[in-house]
Amino acid sequence: MVSRVAARLVAGTPVIAAAHFRAEADPYHPAGNPGGYVNLGTAESRLMWDVLAPRLAAARPRTEADVRYQHLHGTDRLRGAAAALLSRTWRTPVDAADLVVAGGATAALDIIATVLCDPGEAIAVPAPYYSGLDTDLAGRSGARLVPVPMTGPGGRLDPAELDRALHRLRRDRVPVRAVAVTSPSNPQGQVHGVATLRGLLRVAAGHDLDVIADEIYAHSVFGRQRFASVRDPAVRAGLPRGADPDRVHVVWGFAKDFGLPGLKVGVLHTTGAAVRAAARELAYFAPVSTDTQALLADLLADTAWVRRFLAGSAGRLAASVRAAGDLLDRAGIGYLPPSAGFSLWLDLRAHLAEPTEGGERLLWERLFTGARLNILPGAVFGASEPGWFRLCHAVDAALVREGVARLAGALGAARPGRAA
Ligand SMILES: Cc1ncc(COP(=O)(O)O)c(C=O)c1O
Repeated sequence: MVSRVAARLVAGTPVIAAAHFRAEADPYHPAGNPGGYVNLGTAESRLMWDVLAPRLAAARPRTEADVRYQHLHGTDRLRGAAAALLSRTWRTPVDAADLVVAGGATAALDIIATVLCDPGEAIAVPAPYYSGLDTDLAGRSGARLVPVPMTGPGGRLDPAELDRALHRLRRDRVPVRAVAVTSPSNPQGQVHGVATLRGLLRVAAGHDLDVIADEIYAHSVFGRQRFASVRDPAVRAGLPRGADPDRVHVVWGFAKDFGLPGLKVGVLHTTGAAVRAAARELAYFAPVSTDTQALLADLLADTAWVRRFLAGSAGRLAASVRAAGDLLDRAGIGYLPPSAGFSLWLDLRAHLAEPTEGGERLLWERLFTGARLNILPGAVFGASEPGWFRLCHAVDAALVREGVARLAGALGAARPGRAA
């Protein structure tokens, strides 16, 4: 017999993780395993390994400090180096004392949800949204997620639509405590403009809510739209008079921008004394090894290398999107052009046997089981209409080619009205 929290966690094993491990257990290889899975379901960038490898492999003499107990909310060195990086990105000074290092952005999200919410309180999330938030924000904290469908093109973040939904939730006596957004957005890869983010802060303040901004893709931006953090002075200036800036919390990490998901290192930035003190206490349960923190602090200390690396990564992401987009264009498969992130939001609505969640599930099964292609259906992300799928492209170009070929083949065979 396990506790209710444990049972809920087991029942809610993230769909992304389950599909990832099934696909990775039998991976495609053109010669060795041509019938294996093509995994384009997981948002990992494998585009920069050749640049990372020598850097990570370089001999680093370990000192006694690397193996001793350090602050469990992060070493001074890593918090200092991360503060310097984020100061540049956010265009505002960041105090290292306001950073809490944790075992991935996942743990940072769990921490902030637990600090803010009592069990039963709700966190509103504009949908579609990164489905890991179900576990990260609600799995252990006892909070519940309330998806708010964004019904505009591609599910773009629309503060006015969020505002209307929050009014409805308040009328229905749903105890909403916070709003969570991914910025840039995942799954669509959209960069939110300054006006949109100002609108978000204004709406949250108007409803007396905290904001949790997951900016894990902050440096993986390659489109024309410039990234602005919710910490950017131009965005913060949009906070209504009297609104408390301490009620905006930001999560970032090394998984995406630095292509280091397996190191599991994230940070929470929060400026209010009470929340920060509580977050430090919870970090006790999800610390990062001192050795890994030393490695990352060394990496960040070389600011010229970091600048080159991030620019190089953005360039390769742009090329990868272009190549995947060309393949999709040639196959006549529609998508929302992204400006950030590792994925393309595919519009497969015309390929559903019926425009329902069941129709979407049928197509997903056909792709996963039939074509042995792992891309994730919109239902996983709480998309407001069926037929959207997320395809992650930031991997070997040949794998993307094989994946799109399988997708085109399966869609051709599955076209409604055709015998399959
Ligand atoms: C928006 C977002 N937040 C958080 C995470 C998880 O980050 P980490 O691996 O650092 O826990 C992901 C990973 O896919 C993500 O896309």
